[in-house]
Amino acid sequence: MFVMALPSSHTDILPPSTSELLDGVTRFSAELGTMTDLTAIGDRIIQELCHAGATTHGTLFLLDREHECYRRVSTVGPIALALTPPMLAISHPLPHHILTINRIITRDDLAGDLQETDPGTGVHAAMEALQVTRLVPHFIKNRLIAFSLLGIAQPIAEENALTKSVLAALAQIATNALDTIVLYEDLHRSHMLMKRTDRLKSLETIAGGFAHEIRNPLTSIKTFIQLAPQRKDDPQFIHGFSKMVLDDVYRIERLIQEILDYARYMEPKLTDEDFNDIVASCLHFIDVKADRQGIKIEKELAPDLPRVMLDRQQIKQVLLNLLLNAVDSMAKSGGRLRVQTRKLTKPGDIVWVHIEIKDTGEGIQETNLDHVFDPFFTTKHASGEHEGTGLGLTIVHQIIQEHHGEIRVESSVGVGTTFFVSLPALPA
Ligand SMILES: Nc1ncnc2c1ncn2[C@@H]1O[C@H](COP(=O)(O)OP(=O)(O)OP(=O)(O)O)[C@@H](O)[C@H]1O
Ligand SMILES: [Mg+2]
Repeated sequence: MFVMALPSSHTDILPPSTSELLDGVTRFSAELGTMTDLTAIGDRIIQELCHAGATTHGTLFLLDREHECYRRVSTVGPIALALTPPMLAISHPLPHHILTINRIITRDDLAGDLQETDPGTGVHAAMEALQVTRLVPHFIKNRLIAFSLLGIAQPIAEENALTKSVLAALAQIATNALDTIVLYEDLHRSHMLMKRTDRLKSLETIAGGFAHEIRNPLTSIKTFIQLAPQRKDDPQFIHGFSKMVLDDVYRIERLIQEILDYARYMEPKLTDEDFNDIVASCLHFIDVKADRQGIKIEKELAPDLPRVMLDRQQIKQVLLNLLLNAVDSMAKSGGRLRVQTRKLTKPGDIVWVHIEIKDTGEGIQETNLDHVFDPFFTTKHASGEHEGTGLGLTIVHQIIQEHHGEIRVESSVGVGTTFFVSLPALPA
């Protein structure tokens, strides 16, 4: 019979009692159901398996499909960390053997198994080298998505049937949890990929728009440089044209800055914030400008607003863009700017903070309403108070998307425009 050398320390570990084992199964299942982080789940799985199997150490390996190997996710005990490598090839004797046998393998089984399958494979040597006495597979539909290697357990003679069944139950619960988290990570990865593709697409539009936008100012700068030598003694020309050229240079600078802001990867840095506080500080910022233009600001900030996880700088940028657009729309004859925040509860009891920014400005024509978020869409040309780049709302939209929020606009020409923004109140 196959016998594995056991270090003397094995006798120190007492097997858990039956009720302890059963309680453990229930607790384990409940706990895994609440976890969403792979490392935390991995740690919890290997701890529970080691406890149930009364082993000194253990390691959980997870299938890494990209690199075609099994990656060490979690370990218990210093021996596991010291002895198990960070990766095992799919063809390594241990995963290979587990895949062939497809059930929990103990040292007891090993001799028979090896005779049945492939005598002389390196399974025995590998188990001894890693000081492993049990191999626990985590299978989903014949696919070995993970496996656990458990260390020194009680002697073979004391191996009891209950321990084996409990281990099998725990392994199944662990398998389901691992399957869910791997699926979740896959989804997350494809979502990020889709977002990146979207970004690339809009960057393509932006690059085209940018080329178009800088052509005019560049033409005027070029004309000035070409004419300057002949007209250097004409003060009216020099004065008039240099002012124009300087404005063009500023415009190019501003475009470059806005594009850089947009192109920068805008993963928000979330902090726990008071949304009303950010709104108030943005309103403060536009106060003087609004006053000068005969715009009356009315604010109604809900006192029961939940705190929100958001990127303070980015949300300020959103609010300022919306407020300044509203102010611009009332530049000609003044008006009323109403800013209202409130708490929204959406289906599934999810709480959101909501803001409405409503102006009594010139409004947006229906044909333009679908384009206000497009890069470089602007109706603010040189004739107005300031020239727009048309990137303001593109950036606003991008930031709201990154915050998993929603933005919508309603407008009526001659009556005014309202922007509605909602952000989910994520747990801190
Ligand atoms: N509150 C509003 N009232 C009327 N029109 C608006 C309002 N907000 C946006 N718009 C329209 O949407 C266009 C695009 O807005 P956006 O903020 O993206 O660019 P912009 O304001 O023109 O330029 P920039 O923000 O770069 O200064 C505006 O030019 C304007 O026509
Ligand atoms: Mg704007």
